[in-house]
Amino acid sequence: MNDILNRKPIAICIDDEEIVLESLQMELSECLGEECDIEVAQSGKEAVALVQELTNKGEHVAVVICDYIMPEMKGDETLIGIHNIKPSIVNIMLTGQSSTDGITNAINNANLYRFVNKPWQGAHLSGIVREALGKYRNSIAENASAEALETVTGENEELKALREILEKEVGKRTQDLLESNVSLQQSIDELDHANKLKTRLLSVVSHDLKNPLGAMRSLAEILTMESNPDTQKEVVDMMQSTIERMLNLIKDLLDTAALEMGQMKLYPLRRSVKELVEVICYDYAHAAEAKGQRINIEAAHHFVADIDERRFRQVLENLISNAVKYSPKDTTITIRLSDADKDTMRIAIQDEGPGITKEDKEKMFQFFQRLSAQPTGGESSTGVGLAIVKQIVELHNGKLWVESSPETGAKGSTFFVEIPLHQAAVTVG
Ligand SMILES: Nc1ncnc2c1ncn2[C@@H]1O[C@H](COP(=O)(O)OP(=O)(O)OP(=O)(O)O)[C@@H](O)[C@H]1O
Ligand SMILES: [Mg+2]
Repeated sequence: MNDILNRKPIAICIDDEEIVLESLQMELSECLGEECDIEVAQSGKEAVALVQELTNKGEHVAVVICDYIMPEMKGDETLIGIHNIKPSIVNIMLTGQSSTDGITNAINNANLYRFVNKPWQGAHLSGIVREALGKYRNSIAENASAEALETVTGENEELKALREILEKEVGKRTQDLLESNVSLQQSIDELDHANKLKTRLLSVVSHDLKNPLGAMRSLAEILTMESNPDTQKEVVDMMQSTIERMLNLIKDLLDTAALEMGQMKLYPLRRSVKELVEVICYDYAHAAEAKGQRINIEAAHHFVADIDERRFRQVLENLISNAVKYSPKDTTITIRLSDADKDTMRIAIQDEGPGITKEDKEKMFQFFQRLSAQPTGGESSTGVGLAIVKQIVELHNGKLWVESSPETGAKGSTFFVEIPLHQAAVTVG
């Protein structure tokens, strides 16, 4: 920033005649001594050197009053030399000549401010020098403002660029935060879900295993007291079926945990689904007969498909056992195998039970859902069968759904399973 306000400006008088120079210095010092310092030079060369020196020192050479007629370097040449060193210096020429050549040259090449005829009037000359000082100050101030403006503009641009970078960074960070919030929420939901599942598993273990274990203890007590071999056999049979029930329950719970953790793997083999259905129906024939229920199988051919036999058996057992479990006496259960299309087969398990309400349909494929329909023959009900079925069907790339509308008065429900006949990576066995 410029220091014109702190340093006194300098006016330099140039004339080869010593007497003229002295009187110039005296007059100007008298009138303008407060406003500027007066320096003198006796030749053009000396003046140019002085301006150079003072400028190098950082002094404000503001005005030059230069005689025109001088030996060696004339007034116009001197002013041009000075102008080339520092264009902001305001130049005044003293001339006694009527010739305008020097004046024109100084105007064109040294930006001459004014010329004053010799002999000059003291007050007139000091007035012109004062004006010249004012012009210098103004031009310095203008330069300073322009410089300052340039700096501010530059700083503004820099600030703008910085702000843009900052805004981008803040935007990116905000986005990152939002994303990590979402994934955090997902983890919390998953943990919450896993925790709920664990609580349900524990409550099932404590409740559904406690009863059969209690029954086992009573049966064991009876056995120790019973001497009749027929009764003993009957008690042992009951114990065996209770153990079977507990084992099945534990298997279901283990499957639930494995499915939830995504750890269940399938090992599909080419198998006849019709044969598998027949075997399962044979297993459930006794339970169905006890309720006067009939199980019909309708299958036009063998329906050979790639299935994990152990897991797919669970699917069919759960659906067929549900049909038997929730249907009343003297009803018919029909299992139909059909081709959905050339690559897909469909299994429909139809019963004449109570049907499934719209509300129950929304929950029935989730874990631990015991719904409106109750077992009709005192069978156990844990509420995990259909959830396991759904996941195994999906692991076979298939679909599971139910059609039932008790609201319209229609009887029964039909569960549908559709699976592709071929799975990737099948071992033929
Ligand atoms: N065929 C059906 N007819 C009417 N309701 C059914 C039928 N199948 C299932 N439900 C209802 O859906 C609920 C869930 O069935 P799911 O098979 O998942 O469990 P569950 O049979 O109660 O116990 P388990 O885990 O031993 O299979 C049942 O409690 C029952 O209320
Ligand atoms: Mg069931």
